[in-house]
Amino acid sequence: MSKQPTTSGKKQEVETTGHSWDGIEEYNNPLPRWWLWTFYATIVWAVLYTIAYPAWPGIKEATPGLLGWSTRANVAADIAAVEEANAAINERLASVELTAIADDPELNTYAIQAGGAVFRSWCAQCHGSGAAGVQAAGYPNLLDDAWLWGGTIEDIHYTVAHGIRNEDDPDARYSEMPAYGEIFSEEEIVQVVNYVQQMSGQTPNDAAAAEAGAELFEYNCAACHGENGQGDPFQGAPNLTDAIWLYGGDYDTLMTTVTQARFGVMPAMGGAELSEAEIRAVATYVHQLGGGQ
Ligand code: HEC
Ligand code: HEC
Repeated sequence: MSKQPTTSGKKQEVETTGHSWDGIEEYNNPLPRWWLWTFYATIVWAVLYTIAYPAWPGIKEATPGLLGWSTRANVAADIAAVEEANAAINERLASVELTAIADDPELNTYAIQAGGAVFRSWCAQCHGSGAAGVQAAGYPNLLDDAWLWGGTIEDIHYTVAHGIRNEDDPDARYSEMPAYGEIFSEEEIVQVVNYVQQMSGQTPNDAAAAEAGAELFEYNCAACHGENGQGDPFQGAPNLTDAIWLYGGDYDTLMTTVTQARFGVMPAMGGAELSEAEIRAVATYVHQLGGGQ
């Protein structure tokens, strides 16, 4: 027991816990009522909350809660609502003539917007978020007018649906440039590479070699790349006369390309990956980027 002054100035007996540190004693005052009731209220609230909402972790999933509230279900419902809202236009997009999309302003705007979204999630990792491609890696620029496999809406649609040189789609675009390291002598490779330098408007390292390379090109390369090196979209053979390169036009890169060949692969996006409407949307998006034919 100790003495505590009260407001009236009188001394009042207050219980202590009996603890004492260097003469400082600990009072044993009861907790204030308001504090205690708030504390009980939070406990009641917590119990009701865990009954109403998903709360206690289980082995596979948490207790679902009586209200059946779920963020996942909310998102699924939102997605379903958007899909339902777009169902009619997606169906129209999937069924009209490919070439008619551009003439239908509503469809065209929708396709470009939806296609941009498809592009950012399915194509940008290879072709770049701006579709400018990644040179050296062989991912072509889709903004220019140089097309390996053709730049009409039908060509682009086919490339996206079936892909290129993949093993999953039997209709994938296919061609295979031989690795000339196994066919030509080192000297012949140097000659034909010098000729490619020349035909692409560069000064060849060795003019005499370039001259000798002309005949090698005619007999070995022209069947795919064209007599004048202008390329062939039926075989995906690039034009070698423009300054646009899939892998690179410097001497060392050309030596590597001709010696080893490249065999660029693009996955098929049709079937399980994208719906027909999504493929058409992204083809429309790519077609209008600037280089569409
Ligand atoms: C895994 C990488 C990869 C992904 C993903 C990819 N591509 Fe490609 N794409 C390539 C490669 C590599 C080529 C060039 C192949 C070759 O050498 O012919 C190519 C070529 C193309 C071409 C042909 C260009 C031309 O000049 O004819 C188009 C069109 C194209 N891609 C569009 C797309 C679209 C649209 C998507 C997304 C739906 C996509 N690609 C996703 C790697 C990819
Ligand atoms: C069977 C067809 C075929 C033949 C024959 C062929 N090529 Fe190719 N060439 C291609 C294809 C297809 C590509 C596209 C790259 C790929 O395979 O991914 C290519 C790519 C190239 C490239 C890369 C161009 C770039 O933009 O980076 C060069 C250079 C080239 N070829 C040179 C030659 C030369 C030189 C010969 C003859 C010695 C030759 N090719 C024979 C089909 C062929």
